[in-house]
Amino acid sequence: MDIAPCVSDDDYEQWRQVRIAVLPYERTSSVAELRAGDSPERLMVLARVDGTVVGSGMAQPSDTAGGGSVIPRVLPEHRRRGVGTALLHHLVAHVERLGLPVLRAGADDEGSLAFAERFGFREVNREIEQTFRVEGPVEPTPVPAGVEVVTAHDRPGLWEASYERFGRECLADFAVDTPLEVSPERWARDWLVDPMFLAVHDGEVVGCAGLGLDADDPSRAENGLTAVRRDWRGRGLAIHLKLVALAWAADHGVSEVYTWTQDGNAAMRALNTRLGYATTRVGLQLARPLHPA
Ligand SMILES: CC(C)(COP(=O)(O)OP(=O)(O)OC[C@H]1O[C@@H](n2cnc3c(N)ncnc32)[C@H](O)[C@@H]1OP(=O)(O)O)[C@@H](O)C(=O)NCCC(=O)NCCS
Repeated sequence: MDIAPCVSDDDYEQWRQVRIAVLPYERTSSVAELRAGDSPERLMVLARVDGTVVGSGMAQPSDTAGGGSVIPRVLPEHRRRGVGTALLHHLVAHVERLGLPVLRAGADDEGSLAFAERFGFREVNREIEQTFRVEGPVEPTPVPAGVEVVTAHDRPGLWEASYERFGRECLADFAVDTPLEVSPERWARDWLVDPMFLAVHDGEVVGCAGLGLDADDPSRAENGLTAVRRDWRGRGLAIHLKLVALAWAADHGVSEVYTWTQDGNAAMRALNTRLGYATTRVGLQLARPLHPA
């Protein structure tokens, strides 16, 4: 078996195809989006046997403080032959070079969890997937007084400028086991979707909700970050913004909108349930010290 970094666009496309085969229910970034995230800190690899791609891997600093995320993926027909193990060792070596003390991973199915546990990972968090089926036009609630709703696309620079006050506060309020640590660059690149609807007051972002569209399957989309600044909570702003996003979906032929929410985020889960989202999947977030005792 050979494990080599992704270099050409064709490598990136093959990496994407492994992710699509392993996670058919999720949107996968385009080659251009993956390229935009290129950095010496991020490693993307392909595992091949006799020239045929059998798996892929990604390792990079995670959004949690001190964490290095490792994601080995093996095509279902090539599992239980040691490919996952080889990929994991390769990815862990990269996190070690980055000098990060904690490994972070995830598992959505029993087999992957058994694999991860065998290598010392333990559950630290759970995420729930909730799905909204668009069955007709969606009518948003009235815009709460005092705000104007715009798209990030129509106001270049507004999202980037929202990091200091809005972004930091929303990230600090995530129901996670370890605080999030997201740089302004990552906020601008990884946390912005299109369309992203922004509630603006006094020139500042006080709320957001949006959709990550899926070029591989235009009938579905993933909710981007839904958040409201602390001083604007309790006024129906999140519901309004989320309904604006769902109305956009209904108007653009998107029939399914899914979202992942931390198990501990009771407020967002209740809001989704009230809007008609049904729980569709559970994902485990796992962690392990880089060097287990
Ligand atoms: C997790 C994954 C990468 C494992 O790939 P793999 O090539 O099948 O793994 P390996 O062959 O190296 O397995 C090593 C050991 O892990 C354990 N293991 C792996 N898959 C297992 C399963 N389905 N059930 C129980 N134990 C399992 C076994 O102990 C196995 O050794 P064995 O085959 O000698 O019993 C693969 O299942 C996958 O792509 N899952 C989806 C993506 C994912 O969740 N990745 C993140 C995991 S941290």
